[in-house]
Amino acid sequence: MKLLVIGSGGREHALVWKLSQSSRVEKIYVAPGNGGMEGVERVDIKTHEIVALADFAEANGIGLTVVGPELPLSLGIVDEFKRRGLKVFGPEKLGAELEVSKVFAKEFMRRHNIPTADFSVVTDYVSGEEIIKSGKYGNPVVVKADGLARGKGSFVCKSDKEALIALDYLMNKRIFGNAGDSVVIERFLPGREISFTVVTDGSWIVPIVTSLDHKKAYDGDVGPNTGGMGAISPCPYVDASLYKKIMNEIIRPAVDGMMEEGRKFTGVLYAGLMLVEDGPKVLEFNVRFGDPETEAILLRLKSDLLDLLEAGANGDISGVKLDWNTKPSVDVVLASEGYPGKYKKGKEIAGLDNLTEDIIVFHAGTEFRDGKFYTSGGRVLNLASVGEDLTQARNKVYRAIEKIKFDGMYYRKDIGMGK
Ligand SMILES: Nc1ncnc2c1ncn2[C@@H]1O[C@H](COP(=O)(O)OP(=O)(O)O)[C@@H](O)[C@H]1O
Ligand SMILES: [Mg+2]
Repeated sequence: MKLLVIGSGGREHALVWKLSQSSRVEKIYVAPGNGGMEGVERVDIKTHEIVALADFAEANGIGLTVVGPELPLSLGIVDEFKRRGLKVFGPEKLGAELEVSKVFAKEFMRRHNIPTADFSVVTDYVSGEEIIKSGKYGNPVVVKADGLARGKGSFVCKSDKEALIALDYLMNKRIFGNAGDSVVIERFLPGREISFTVVTDGSWIVPIVTSLDHKKAYDGDVGPNTGGMGAISPCPYVDASLYKKIMNEIIRPAVDGMMEEGRKFTGVLYAGLMLVEDGPKVLEFNVRFGDPETEAILLRLKSDLLDLLEAGANGDISGVKLDWNTKPSVDVVLASEGYPGKYKKGKEIAGLDNLTEDIIVFHAGTEFRDGKFYTSGGRVLNLASVGEDLTQARNKVYRAIEKIKFDGMYYRKDIGMGK
C-alpha cells in the first residue's frame, strides 16, 4: 500500500519510521516532510493545501493518508478526502472542533460533566476586564484564545495586570486574529501536568501507553512554554486506578458526548490533564498525536501501526489489539538557542553519523544539503531510546547527545527526572 503522511516535524518522522516497518507498506510519501526522513518521497505541498493534497492522493493511488498536525484537520482535510472516497486517518472538521475551539471544548465539557477548570467565555474586552477585575477565578488566572494559535494562545497570568495585558493582546491588538474573537478565562489549576492519548473510531477505544511531555523550556520545569522539550513513556504518575478514572470520567464521556452531539469522533483523542488534588482535570483536548509524546510512544509499539490507522480510517477499530514493549522510552529534544522565541536557522549539525544503532533520531527541523544536515527549526532533533529502566534509557540518550553539535544547541538535561 502507498501511504501519504502529512506534516514535517518529529511526530511525523516517528510516524514514518514506524509505518515503514510494516510489511504491507510499499511506499511512503510525506508532505512536506523534513530533511531527515529517510526512504520516503517528499512532496512539495503545504499542510494547509488540502485540495492539492487530495488531488495528489487521488493521482498517486494513495491507500491511506495519515494527518499529523491540527491545521489541515481544522480545515476539513478529512471531509475533503472522504468526499472523494479516499482513505484518511483523523477526525472530520466537526470532530476537530474539540481542539480548534477552546470555547467549544470548555462548553462541551460542561455539558458532559467532564472535569475541567471553572471558566467564563467572553466575546468583548470590557466583559473580560470585568471578570478579571472581579477576581472571580482568583490568582493566577488563565486567559486563552478560542482558536488555533500555534500553541501560543494560552496565558497563565500571575496578576490581574498580566491577565488584562493578555486579554488586550488577544481581543484588541488581535495578535492571533480571529482566534481572539472569543476568549476563555479560567481558574488556574495547581498540580502535575500529564498527557493522555487514545485512538477511537467514535465508539470503540484503543488505549495507547501513557507518556509524559516536558513543556517548559528549561531544567527544573521553568521558563516559557514550548511545544515540548522531551517525553518519556510510560508516565510515572499514572497508576492503574488513575488510568481507569481518566478513562471513565474523561475519555469515555468525551467520545460518547461527541457521538451524541452528531460529531462522531474518529482519530487520536489527546487530553492535556492537570492532576489536581481532587482528581484529573482537562486543560485542553487535542485531536491528533502529541509531539514529542508520539516519538516516545511509538518506540514502544510492537504491533503494526498501519493496522490501527487503517482500521481507524475504515471507522472500525474494534478488532485491533496493540502490543507494547514493557520497557520505558525516553525522547529528548535538541532545540535552537532562542526557541520558543526567535532563533537562527541554517547551522550545520555534526555528529549524527557517530550514533549507535539503539539510538533513534527523529528529525524535527532539519534540512539536508550537499551531504550535510542543517538546522531549520526551533526544535531540531529528537534523540530517543528504550532502556531496561528509565535511568538506563535516559543515560543512553544523554550519552548520545554529547556526540551531537550545532551552533546554539540547547536541551533539557532533566527529561524523566521529575521536578
Ligand atoms: N487552568 C490551567 N491551570 C494551570 N495551567 C494551565 C491551565 N490551562 C493551561 N495551563 C498551562 O498552559 C499550557 C497551555 O495551555 P493549553 O490549554 O494546553 O493550550 P495550548 O496548548 O493551545 O496553548 C498548558 O500546557 C499548561 O501548562
Ligand atoms: Mg497544550
